[in-house]
Amino acid sequence: MNQQGITLWFTGLSGAGKTTIALHLEKRLQELGIRVKRLDGDEVRARLAPDLGFSKKDRFTHIERVSYVADLLTRYGVIVLASFISPYREMRQLCREQIESFAEVYVHCPLEECIQRDVKGLYARALKGEISNFTGISQPYEEPESPDLTVDSHKETASESADRVMNFLREQGYIP
Ligand code: PPS
Ligand code: MG
Repeated sequence: MNQQGITLWFTGLSGAGKTTIALHLEKRLQELGIRVKRLDGDEVRARLAPDLGFSKKDRFTHIERVSYVADLLTRYGVIVLASFISPYREMRQLCREQIESFAEVYVHCPLEECIQRDVKGLYARALKGEISNFTGISQPYEEPESPDLTVDSHKETASESADRVMNFLREQGYIP
């Protein structure tokens, strides 16, 4: 099948729902027979960036590595679902420039809601000062100014967000 690749770049706070939405999309795209690859912060860090932490410098190095891989896959016609906090506008701009076909999806969720959910217990530890450089607590998250798409995990389910991303891909001609 002559499939055109694109990287959908999911950015948002820890716990906003990036991974969950990407998992929904992966399943739906696979069901359509579309070539799809998910790249996710937690997993990719373990394989590609065990040497890197969460300082601003390390995050940039990590995201540069990831965007190289995402670009390779995109050029080979894969739909890449990349979910990384990627908290700095400049780093996301670098991804846009590096990756042949790129769309930024902002997974919006208010910080207070992420702190309440605290699925991994990381916010509690960050608030106690046990984790340094924690996004939203002791390091900034720069909200996208003009994302290609915004989904709101505070107001819609992950499945509804996935519907909206599927519509976006359809409108842009990446899936039938
Ligand atoms: S980044 O900013 O793009 O380099 O981050 P990413 O590669 O997406 O990794 C985020 C996941 O790492 C865990 N974690 C932290 N997140 C933010 N700040 C700090 N200090 C931190 N330490 C560990 C956390 O599980 C993140 O996963 P998500 O899925 O975003 O919650
Ligand atoms: Mg995640």
